[in-house]
Amino acid sequence: MNFFIDTANLEDIAEAQAFGILDGVTTNPSLMAKEGITGDDNIIAHYKKICEIVEGNVSAEVISTDFEDMVKEGEALAGLNSQIVVKLPLIADGIKACKYFSGQGIKTNMTLVFSAGQALLAAKVGATYVSPFLGRLDDVSTDGLHLISEIRQIYDNYGFETQILAASIRHTMHVIHCAKIGSDIMTGPLSSIKDLLKHPLTDIGLAKFLEDYKKGN
Ligand code: E4P
Repeated sequence: MNFFIDTANLEDIAEAQAFGILDGVTTNPSLMAKEGITGDDNIIAHYKKICEIVEGNVSAEVISTDFEDMVKEGEALAGLNSQIVVKLPLIADGIKACKYFSGQGIKTNMTLVFSAGQALLAAKVGATYVSPFLGRLDDVSTDGLHLISEIRQIYDNYGFETQILAASIRHTMHVIHCAKIGSDIMTGPLSSIKDLLKHPLTDIGLAKFLEDYKKGN
């Protein structure tokens, strides 16, 4: 399972990269705004900085909602760095743009996916990644994990190569459940990855080992 971090925070990205587990980064306009990154030039400069920190790929989301502008914007984003993946909303023009980028060999991430039907369309147009929003479905009392299982089954039935990128991850149990179901990738905050480290028996065991070592020295 690949681990992506869902943030535009450069410190968190650098920490995840240094931790040795980072396979990529996903961003969105809200995450950029949260870091105070506004205005096209600043946003572009920020993507470049992220690409300098990480070795994996970086999803950069288009703001346009019509096919022609999505293509223009996506091509400009993809031209910034070979690590960039063009992130497109799962709307009709997004599907058309995804088909176009697939033909050009440009990687895509179809975002804002909330149903198996939407995920099927993304696979049909050759999306590199499909991003079902697990946490946001859970927030409205709908089983987000069930959606990921459905997508897994559909993609396996037909051998679709689109990778399932479980998004809107909120905590470690989401990560573990997604790994059990066979999600290819997870993207979430740094805490959802770092918290996988935690177990009180590890801390108690280590303290005891160090204490016993000192007794013999
Ligand atoms: C996906 O790529 C999105 O950036 C994302 O995971 C949104 O998650 P949220 O529901 O925590 O905003």
